[in-house]
This record gives sequence, structure tokens and C-alpha cells, in this order.
Amino acid sequence: MAVIEVKNLTKIFTVYQKEPGILGTFKSLFGRKYEEIKAVDNISFSIEEGELVGFIGPNGAGKTTTLKCLSGLLYPTGGVINVLGFQPWRRKADFLKKIAFVMGQKNQLWWDLPPMETFVLNKEIYGLSDEKFKKVLGDLVDLLDLSDLLKVPVKKLSLGQRMKCELIASLLHSPQVLYLDEPTIGLDVVMQKKLRDFIRDYNHKYKATIMLTSHYMADVEALARRVIIINRGRILFDGDLTSLIKKHAPYKLITLVLKEQVARQKFEKLGKIKKFSYPEVVLKVESHLSNKIAAKILENFPVDDLNIEDADIEEVIREIFQSQNE
Ligand SMILES: Nc1ncnc2c1ncn2[C@@H]1O[C@H](COP(=O)(O)OP(=O)(O)OP(=O)(O)O)[C@@H](O)[C@H]1O
Ligand SMILES: [Mg+2]
Repeated sequence: MAVIEVKNLTKIFTVYQKEPGILGTFKSLFGRKYEEIKAVDNISFSIEEGELVGFIGPNGAGKTTTLKCLSGLLYPTGGVINVLGFQPWRRKADFLKKIAFVMGQKNQLWWDLPPMETFVLNKEIYGLSDEKFKKVLGDLVDLLDLSDLLKVPVKKLSLGQRMKCELIASLLHSPQVLYLDEPTIGLDVVMQKKLRDFIRDYNHKYKATIMLTSHYMADVEALARRVIIINRGRILFDGDLTSLIKKHAPYKLITLVLKEQVARQKFEKLGKIKKFSYPEVVLKVESHLSNKIAAKILENFPVDDLNIEDADIEEVIREIFQSQNE
């Protein structure tokens, strides 16, 4: 059964424009000029229980707006949303107990207090028993490897430690549906990986349904099999990440290390040269020919090492957006 069902969701923001200065204020008393921004434009998708879906797109594409509609923070202009059988905008207590919305840039932790205080507050808000609270907190602290920081004031924590505490605060009530809006933003590579591992574990352990937005393709690649790509409020792609790569990037990269110099021209016939700086050569070749070409290279050139890799997903996505914006 689908946990998240979205049909023809549209969200239009009306933004009033005021001309600057007192004259502008005066004018705006009479005819206010306004502009409509279609942040989400008639999108539909459905997500099954336990799925972890990457929701990606450039700045301003409509990701956060969609997630806000799905968690009931925004009232949709059009369309129907059903999450766990609820209409999110009603914000029923039973619904709110089953979801969590975590934003990388926003925080709910009390700045001057240790994270533990916020956790206890959330325990009360969600009406968790002492027993349940202890159990869930223990599990989360283990998963995130955080035990000695619970009593340190939040303002003294690093960004990554803070983000871990944010996650704990958001997950104490064991939500079944999780919206993660750029949870790894601003974190260093090591911390990004730790959070990624946590999200994966959480998804497996609790069968939670997760929608994740991130500008780091490494997050999406590591976590999501399925991606929904949105641009200018519309869905460009919804499906397996691997089929996206196959469809849009039917090429591979052959990287080789030469034992001795070879003239550049000799590689030109084999594929597109992406890099040529002795001893390394990188060739872009069509996927279905990659094995043949690799064999040819090994046969004809003095090669020390050779690797065949898939197209860089970051580049593939960039190409898709570029072709859309032309
Ligand atoms: N409260 C609002 N009032 C007016 N316009 C808004 C509001 N919130 C978002 N928008 C506009 O809606 C569009 C979509 O914004 P949204 O925040 O959903 O994008 P996003 O995909 O999350 O982008 P980013 O990757 O930068 O976070 C943008 O043009 C944005 O300026
Ligand atoms: Mg956003």
C-alpha cells in the first residue's frame, strides 16, 4: 500500500510587490500589484512503505515546498495528498505523531541548553512513556554514536554534532514517515557519511518511509534506489537511479595508466578524450562498447592499469537540467 500518495499537487505563492519608498506605500494602498509563483506545478507520485526516495532538483525547484505540503505546513493550491491515510494540511495530532520533518538549515534545539532538555520537552509533547523514551533515545544515541554530548549546551556543539541531536529530537516519537530536507548541508565529508549511514540504518531498522532532498549527489547515490527529479515545479524523472543513468548517460569512463608515452591521436579513434596527462588517460565511451574498447586498449598499448567506471551521476544530473533550461 502506498504510504504517500500525491495527485496533481500544485502550490502557488502570491507575492505582493511594493514599489520602494513612501510613494510606493501610498500606491499600494490602491492597486496592489502581485505576482504568482508556481512553486509546485501539477505533480503526482506515490511512495510505498519502507521506500527511501531521493528528491532532487536545483535551487528553487520546489522540493521544500512539496515537503511542506506533505507534512501539512502548507495548504496546497490544488491536488490531493494522502499520507498514511491523512490529509496533511489538517494537521491532526494522530498524523503529526507519525511523521517528522527535518531541515538541515533550521533547528529546534534550545541554543543555551543541553540537547537532553529538548529531548525531554519532546517526550512530553508526544506523550511518550519513560520506558519508551529511554529505549528510543538509547537506540538513537547508539546509532549516532553520541552519548557523551547530551549534557553539553547546544551552542558548544559542532554543526555535525548539532545535526545528530536534531535528528534525535525529530525521531524520538518513532515517526513512520520522514522528510529529510538537506540533512547533510554544510557538514564535512566524514560527518556526511556518518549521517548517511544513520539514515540507511534507520530506514532498514524501522521500515520508515523516507523522502530525502540533498544537493550532494553522494547522499542520493548512497541511499536511494529511486529518485524523483523536479525542476521548476515539475517532475522530470521518477524511477531507478540506474535506469536514469542508462537513459541519460549511456557512456562509461575508461581510465588508464600508461607505462610509456603514446601519441594522443592514437586514442582519438577510440572515444572522447576527457583527460590526457601522462601517464593518465581518461576516455569517455559508449557503454555497450566499453568492454570491447578496453580489450583493444590492453592489446595495443603499454598499459599499467585500467578501470571502467559509470558516468559521474553529478554530471548526468547537471546535463539533464541544462538540456531542460535551454
Ligand atoms: N513562502 C513563500 N513565498 C513566496 N515564494 C516562495 C515561498 N516559499 C518558496 N517560494 C518560491 O517557490 C519556489 C520553490 O521554492 P522551494 O523552497 O520549494 O525550492 P527548493 O527546491 O527547496 O530549493 P532549494 O534547493 O534552494 O532549497 C522558489 O521560486 C521560491 O522562491
Ligand atoms: Mg529547499
